[in-house]
Amino acid sequence: MYDNSQNSVPVIDCDHRIDDFESAVISGLSDSPKSLPCKFFYDERGSRLFDRICELDAYYPTRTEIGLLKDNAEHISRLIGPGAHLIELGSGASIKIRMLLDAIPDLAQYTAVDISREFLVESAEALARDYPEVSVLAVCADFTRKFEVPNPEHRPGAQRVAFFPGSTIGNFHPQEALALLRRIRTMLGSDGGLLIGTDLKKNPDTLYAAYNDTDGVTAEFNLNLLNRINAELEGSFDIDGFDHHAPYLEKDGKIEMRLISKRDQSASVGPKEFFFRAGEYIHTENSYKFTVQQFRRLCARAGFAFRKCWTDSENLFGLHYLEAGAPDGAGGP
Ligand code: AVJ
Repeated sequence: MYDNSQNSVPVIDCDHRIDDFESAVISGLSDSPKSLPCKFFYDERGSRLFDRICELDAYYPTRTEIGLLKDNAEHISRLIGPGAHLIELGSGASIKIRMLLDAIPDLAQYTAVDISREFLVESAEALARDYPEVSVLAVCADFTRKFEVPNPEHRPGAQRVAFFPGSTIGNFHPQEALALLRRIRTMLGSDGGLLIGTDLKKNPDTLYAAYNDTDGVTAEFNLNLLNRINAELEGSFDIDGFDHHAPYLEKDGKIEMRLISKRDQSASVGPKEFFFRAGEYIHTENSYKFTVQQFRRLCARAGFAFRKCWTDSENLFGLHYLEAGAPDGAGGP
């Protein structure tokens, strides 16, 4: 059991998190085409590699979204209103929230939800140190599954606002994205808000460059999944036997991350053996891109009312503010 006593930030663990890494890997590698779920990228090393991706020149989403948050912090904070409980899904290093904290008056609570425990606790601690007036809570959970976020005891009625940055919603197939947005809306209650970032459709070359960086950081991030299988599931993958490639599939409007086998080879996961043909790939991530119109429609179907969308001058990234509205409002199930 992790010892919380030295820390100022309380941590809640949802027991489902490491859960089915093994069963997900075995079932994904038994599929055709083979696949692995992208949520398993984020072990400690993977989280750090992702932070390095965010600093790459070619990877525009992070800096663009941070710019949007900074430039519009006042307006966003007015929409969020005083006394709110901000819940960040996939909080990672909890950097983006810092752009908002100074502007939000009288925040009741900030809850960071992430699947990567060490990283979550470390980031939440750092945030609590830098913002001593904010009450911080860490919830270690896979937000694609059921999890509870308690309200702060001193503010039982605080309005909930979910913060879902980074275009993580793009990891989900549109049908799953819709289901996730509906679950978020349920978690928010009838008067909640949602501040969510989405990567926008654009010139395929720009997209391609962002996911196939010449420094090879994205490749390392992708290949780290195989490291993780080796380390945690007694795997025997030859990491050098696979190449990273992330094509943009224009008809689906998504980047697809792949690990391509350089030759015929086999690899085991515990007692199970898997065979890879030369050129065969493992699909490791979808990253869907939206037009503002498409995203609006998706949100409406999930029962959200669209309040505001901010984009940068190059139309690279969209930041949207939505309201949950009445639970039985338009666009329900
Ligand atoms: C964190 C899911 C938004 O899709 O752009 C970055 C992950 N993968 N480079 C994305 C990612 C490869 C990222 N998200």
